[in-house]
Amino acid sequence: MKLKLGVLISGRGSNLQALIDAAADPAYPAEIALVISNRADAGGLDRAKAACIPTKVIPHTEYATREDFDSALTATLRAADVGLVCLAGFMRLLTAGFAEDWHDRLINIHPSLLPSFKGLNSHAQALAAGVRFSGCTVHFVRPEMDAGPIILQAAVPVHDGDDEDALAARILTAEHRCYPLAVKLIAEGRIRVVDELVRIVEGQFLPDPAINPIG
Ligand code: GRF
Repeated sequence: MKLKLGVLISGRGSNLQALIDAAADPAYPAEIALVISNRADAGGLDRAKAACIPTKVIPHTEYATREDFDSALTATLRAADVGLVCLAGFMRLLTAGFAEDWHDRLINIHPSLLPSFKGLNSHAQALAAGVRFSGCTVHFVRPEMDAGPIILQAAVPVHDGDDEDALAARILTAEHRCYPLAVKLIAEGRIRVVDELVRIVEGQFLPDPAINPIG
């Protein structure tokens, strides 16, 4: 039995595509059961349709409160028998109730080495801070924004002369390796959260060389 994923998007869906590509391997232990977007014009919806994955648009504008919107998300995810919710460029703040309903079954990818540079404009924040490395983080979601036990990170160098677009593009290639790998570890039952820290169990975890710092 494969772990059923629900992927939540708002935009282009390149991380969704990385998950679609990974799941195309019959040996991959997870499958995408449903893609939900809060925006009808999200490019990622076309990626899902091209892969014959069910899609649903749930416009946040049609709900009076965040709680109502999140309840609709949960009902739709449960109806699809989703076991793990993957936020992939989903541009809505979720309620504490949603995070609690999906405790340790809700993950996010953020384009910085958390806990540095939370929120929007993480690349601009990294450039303004003058860090030599930034990167990406896959983490379980907690009610606080961009917080929660860290599953995987990849460090990416910041080059002299980088602008936001150059740094974002370099980090994005690392994101596309990290997110499928994090999902795989969860689907294999190798991830435990102990005292709000992630432990990788059942064998020594050898990092995929592909997610070592890249140029
Ligand atoms: C990624 O940079 C991700 O880290 C952030 O939003 C962006 C989504 O990009 N949360 P995409 O839609 O997956 O291409």
